[in-house]
Amino acid sequence: MQTKHLLGIEPLHPHQITEILDLADQYAQSNRSKAPINDVLGGCTQINMFFENSTRTQASFEIAGKRLGADVMNMSMKASSINKGETLIDTAVTLNAMHPDLLVVRHPHSGAVDLLAQKVDCAVINAGDGRHEHPTQALLDALTIRRSKGRLHRLNIAICGDIAHSRVARSNLILLGKMENRIRLVGPATLMPSGITEFGAEVYHDMNEGLKDVDVIMMLRLQSERMDGGFIPSEREYYHRYGLDTAKLSNAKEGAIVMHPGPMNRGVEIDGEIADDLSRSVIQEQVEMGVAVRMAVMNILMRSRREAAQEAML
Ligand code: NCD
Repeated sequence: MQTKHLLGIEPLHPHQITEILDLADQYAQSNRSKAPINDVLGGCTQINMFFENSTRTQASFEIAGKRLGADVMNMSMKASSINKGETLIDTAVTLNAMHPDLLVVRHPHSGAVDLLAQKVDCAVINAGDGRHEHPTQALLDALTIRRSKGRLHRLNIAICGDIAHSRVARSNLILLGKMENRIRLVGPATLMPSGITEFGAEVYHDMNEGLKDVDVIMMLRLQSERMDGGFIPSEREYYHRYGLDTAKLSNAKEGAIVMHPGPMNRGVEIDGEIADDLSRSVIQEQVEMGVAVRMAVMNILMRSRREAAQEAML
């Protein structure tokens, strides 16, 4: 894969997605068996810049970098000069002058990470920008599905809940569509983005109908921090109509898997018992695959960076 950054799923070809997932699968194996791992990021400096809260994404980028031998620095963006009025670009250019090899960036504004990538020399990975994209989340979801279902094509997949505010939904919609799956979006009309039919997904406002015979159920959090008004009557009413409980789950295929990117609000979008039921829920496996996928992405980007540098010297 000859590419400088990972800013979104949009520009990736299906064969590149498969290449990342194949390598990630190998890392998943060695992470489980604690087998020694090649220091492919030895001598590389990785800076994590998270302008929004994060638990699993930031932790897994840090663990992934360290497992591959990188020097990892977590910038505390709350304590940075951004709060003294420095722009995002000035901060990025300042860090760039210290010659990092990799920036991992999460930002509340859609498009901010793309803009930043244009101003720096190192590789940039988008760890979530506003409502736009969260490519490594979609890749780890894809790997989890492939490992559970044995394939990543011709599956019926329901993405449920707050689609409008979700970069996870957007990146998944693009990735799973590229791999030729049938995707249903399930949620209230107020939480569906406009122009959603362009993506070729079927839209359902009734959860029981939307979940009929699906292989995969992907639940999303109500992202109230991105809402500027009342999108739902109440959390109680929302749970009643759209929360995943045993009755609604019974519409899905036997053996359907339940996913959630986290953080999860138990009793709002999902019943806690379903989330914890390891015969249905693959939520912990998603977290595990997060480390493997991020190791694969960083390995591929750093390899392609080294190859580009060698070509430039010839
Ligand atoms: C998601 C995110 O930040 O976009 N979480 C994650 O990365 N695991 C989803 C969310 O915040 O609901």
